[in-house]
Amino acid sequence: MSTQSAPPSEFVKALEDRLLEAAGDLSLLKEQLTQSQRLATIGTIAAVIAHEFNNILTPIISYSQYALQSAESEKPDAELIKKALSKSFAGATKAGRICTSMLGLARGESQTSTCLVQTIVDETLLVMARDPQKDGIALRVQVPPDLRVDADPVQLEQVLLNLLINARQAMTGKSGGSLTIKATAEDTEARICVSDTGSGIAEKNLPRIFDPFFTTKGTARRGEPRGTGLGLAICREIIEHHGGRIEVQSEVGRGTTFTVVLPRV
Ligand SMILES: Nc1ncnc2c1ncn2[C@@H]1O[C@H](COP(=O)(O)OP(=O)(O)OP(=O)(O)O)[C@@H](O)[C@H]1O
Ligand SMILES: [Mg+2]
Repeated sequence: MSTQSAPPSEFVKALEDRLLEAAGDLSLLKEQLTQSQRLATIGTIAAVIAHEFNNILTPIISYSQYALQSAESEKPDAELIKKALSKSFAGATKAGRICTSMLGLARGESQTSTCLVQTIVDETLLVMARDPQKDGIALRVQVPPDLRVDADPVQLEQVLLNLLINARQAMTGKSGGSLTIKATAEDTEARICVSDTGSGIAEKNLPRIFDPFFTTKGTARRGEPRGTGLGLAICREIIEHHGGRIEVQSEVGRGTTFTVVLPRV
């Protein structure tokens, strides 16, 4: 019968030292992880604000260009200049509000109030870069005039603007199409649908479209939209923060409908 002798004390000592060292490394790594998670959050907020600013800056730039061109022409059109300037002013004011609102969202805060869906839709259409009709897109809006939701109006407009931009981009290259915004009141829910007759979404992509940075618009061809893949991720974040959900139905070649479902007031 053999007896097991205790390990030599220097061996135990070396093991303890290694253990201590490893524990030190671990806490350093944990600290680094927290730091990089913080940086990732800042990175995401920056990307989100840049993305939303881009949506708003595009029309501001084109309106200011109209105003400048007219002011520098032989016959400046005071009415046109005034209209273009007031549109740019409204856009720039909105950009400021978006900044505040996105920083709030990052802290988990929203400025909710009871809003008329009709007003949200009208405000969003006002800041769209181009009138859809100018691109041969028939726009239909059907919203019950008394439909109300509890929401942060700035954030809800951002959701609609992203959905409208996607819808319009899905129809570029097609000769025209139709874009429908339809809201309905169910028992406890308000449903806002944005439908287009664009390219549709391939079934294999459907589970990924809400992922941050998922985009199929990586094209470098001129005249075709490029994407960062943040639009729908922002929409989902905002809607879920409002206690709602966003759904999609799509058929390749026929079109797509996004439905935003929010609790009704
Ligand atoms: N209405 C739509 N019709 C067809 N495909 C769509 C539609 N909306 C979204 N998609 C698909 O979902 C992807 C992700 O959309 P998302 O808005 O998140 O990003 P993006 O439009 O590509 O880029 P970004 O919005 O950041 O400019 C798109 O690249 C596209 O493939
Ligand atoms: Mg988009």
